[in-house]
Amino acid sequence: MILGAATALLRAFPAETAHRATIALTKNFAPLLPRAAADDPRLAVEAFGLRFPNPIGLAAGFDKNAEVPAAMARFGFGFVECGTVTPRPQIGNPRPRLFRLAEDRAVINRMGFNNEGMEAAAARLAARRRNGILGINIGANKDSADRIADYRLAFARLAPLADYVTVNVSSPNTPGLRGLQNKDELTALLSAVLDERAKLSRRMPVLLKIAPDLDLAALDDIAAATGAIDGIIVSNTTIARPATLRSANAKEQGGLSGAPLFKPSTRILREMRARTQLPLVGVGGIAGGADAYEKIKAGATLVQLYSALAYEGPGLVTRIKRELLACLARDGHASVADAVGKP
Ligand SMILES: Cc1cc2nc3c(=O)[nH]c(=O)nc-3n(C[C@H](O)[C@H](O)[C@H](O)COP(=O)(O)O)c2cc1C
Repeated sequence: MILGAATALLRAFPAETAHRATIALTKNFAPLLPRAAADDPRLAVEAFGLRFPNPIGLAAGFDKNAEVPAAMARFGFGFVECGTVTPRPQIGNPRPRLFRLAEDRAVINRMGFNNEGMEAAAARLAARRRNGILGINIGANKDSADRIADYRLAFARLAPLADYVTVNVSSPNTPGLRGLQNKDELTALLSAVLDERAKLSRRMPVLLKIAPDLDLAALDDIAAATGAIDGIIVSNTTIARPATLRSANAKEQGGLSGAPLFKPSTRILREMRARTQLPLVGVGGIAGGADAYEKIKAGATLVQLYSALAYEGPGLVTRIKRELLACLARDGHASVADAVGKP
């Protein structure tokens, strides 16, 4: 109730101001709120050697600087992905760069990897009490002369502090970054990251996060290049603008997320499922249990969300889990794991 009122109030502010306030409020007040109830065992899933209490994760971009992972876990997320973190701090694109499309239940952002850099994130992660599964999402600085070296640096610094690492090559807001999804670049990038992984004492799951704006030949190439990693996150935001968008902000440049991304990202997820045995994380437009269930049926072992939180507030996580359990029961599935990839 209080959280719902706070979410509604924050919508009166410009989107980025509201986001900063949300992080500050979460940092200070979430530890005072009751922790979400323990998860129903039917929600538990295993993927890349980790056991998740439930499959609903917080997507990257909400907590870019690893300020509130434990607080977000208290809202009931099964895992939290911080970042994108780059080796050096960077301020990102000029404001305004974050836009609500309320009529479309969507968001457009062109933040441009604004973040405090890997040392700041590492200091926070090193100081945290381990509590819940934490992924760290890494990227390259905009002005980097050697992007692959940036991923190496960020991986080496941050992987020891996380449960898994996501290699993000799919932000549309760093010029040229999505080119790293091309076969040769991707092969070189992943082999550099796997080189770094081999130096760690613990086996570290590595995930790749891809764009929804890829054709089928590009998906073939990605499937071929990802043999030695642990999973693929499908997807980041889209540069497409569906004709159905009604909001005044629909023409803003950047990546579109939220409800209009649900169908295209689920289509790419299904296509990826047909091309790889790796565990998949379904992201894009999830705003309810039925959406999460559809991603799971399309082949996702785990899901993530971000945009719907801005409209629904953190009570959304508990609702999704309740609705997902109802979907499983309706279709006679004993667990989430039982429903993965069963259309
Ligand atoms: C404001 C904003 C910032 C984001 N920043 C990142 C980021 O830094 N790294 C990343 O991998 N994805 C980022 N994303 C993409 C989300 O993680 C997610 O893939 C996308 O928004 C689709 O999910 P949704 O429809 O539930 O929001 C961002 C999304 C938004 C809305």
